[in-house]
Amino acid sequence: MTAEPLEIYLEEGDLERGLRDDVRAGLSAGQKWLPPKWFYDARGSELFEEITRLPEYYPTRAERAVLAEHAPDIAALTGAKTLIELGSGSSDKTRLLLDAFARQGGLGTFVPLDVSVSALRGSTAQIAADYPSLRVRGIVGDFTRQLDRLPTGGRRLVVFLGGTIGNLLPAERAEFLTAMRAALEVGDWLLLGTDLVKDPEVIVPAYDDAAGVTAEFNRNVLHVINRELGADFDPGAFEHVALWDPAQEWIEMRLRASRPMRVQVRTLGVTVDFAAGEELRTEVSAKFHPEGIAAELTAAGFGTTKFWTDADGLFGVTLARAR
Ligand code: SAH
Ligand code: AVI
Repeated sequence: MTAEPLEIYLEEGDLERGLRDDVRAGLSAGQKWLPPKWFYDARGSELFEEITRLPEYYPTRAERAVLAEHAPDIAALTGAKTLIELGSGSSDKTRLLLDAFARQGGLGTFVPLDVSVSALRGSTAQIAADYPSLRVRGIVGDFTRQLDRLPTGGRRLVVFLGGTIGNLLPAERAEFLTAMRAALEVGDWLLLGTDLVKDPEVIVPAYDDAAGVTAEFNRNVLHVINRELGADFDPGAFEHVALWDPAQEWIEMRLRASRPMRVQVRTLGVTVDFAAGEELRTEVSAKFHPEGIAAELTAAGFGTTKFWTDADGLFGVTLARAR
């Protein structure tokens, strides 16, 4: 079957308005920041895929190992008719689930949702071609704002993989889980991938690889702002920084100005000054403890059914059910 045309929850105009609001707020703050969703234009999505293949970036391999081992359990326990994937990207690991559901029978519809149109175009076309009996409904949308619009009906399994929940700040995360629970019926399922707290000597290189791919991914947000908002950032003048915060148990990516700079953001009519050494925070990536994940899910109205990790205990996958 060919994939259905992408369903658009976010029009081009919504995206541009969102970017404008975030850039205006984030670049005028005392500690400058930007939300990580703006990394993912076509180039950013490609760079992320490259990151997943780096020797230092363990989360993708570790999560894949968990799914390879437990996808049949997930299919059997949930008996889902509809699989919805948030922040789906290439949906590459999700194929392990689709394969398990194909062997079991019963899954009718796959609904990947992502803010990246290019990632969705690629993934929906390939998955529709490889799973001809599956209905593939790609949605261009924002999982921080539009969960109330997810398709309803049939037993649903929502999967949120990769540890992307860790890219939300704690308050945003609680809001996300509450909205997720509100969007589900009692008995629907959530499969949540979370990177686990471990030695920073393992974590930091995963975010500061020797080949410089993560640095390029980090700087990509400046290319996006230049193109979309007519800004004149010199991305090469910003140094990539990956910093472990032991109190928050998250790693931050920052861009550090290597010299004083004045940046014009033409579409906004604003000028932003950077002092030499000033940092712009572009991402947090929180790491979790198993008991913390269970507590956050319980607080949001989920019961946790299973928690699995890979053999090295690097990455956790939780199967939770709406109560
Ligand atoms: N799930 C995949 C991809 C993770 S990368 C994996 O595990 O490998 C994070 C993905 O989330 C990207 O594809 C990005 O475009 C998407 N994303 C980030 N913020 C988003 C948001 N607010 N709403 C929807 N998608 C988002
Ligand atoms: C998508 N997300 C879970 C990735 C992470 O590890 O936080 C994004 C990323 N940032 C740097 N490298 C990868």
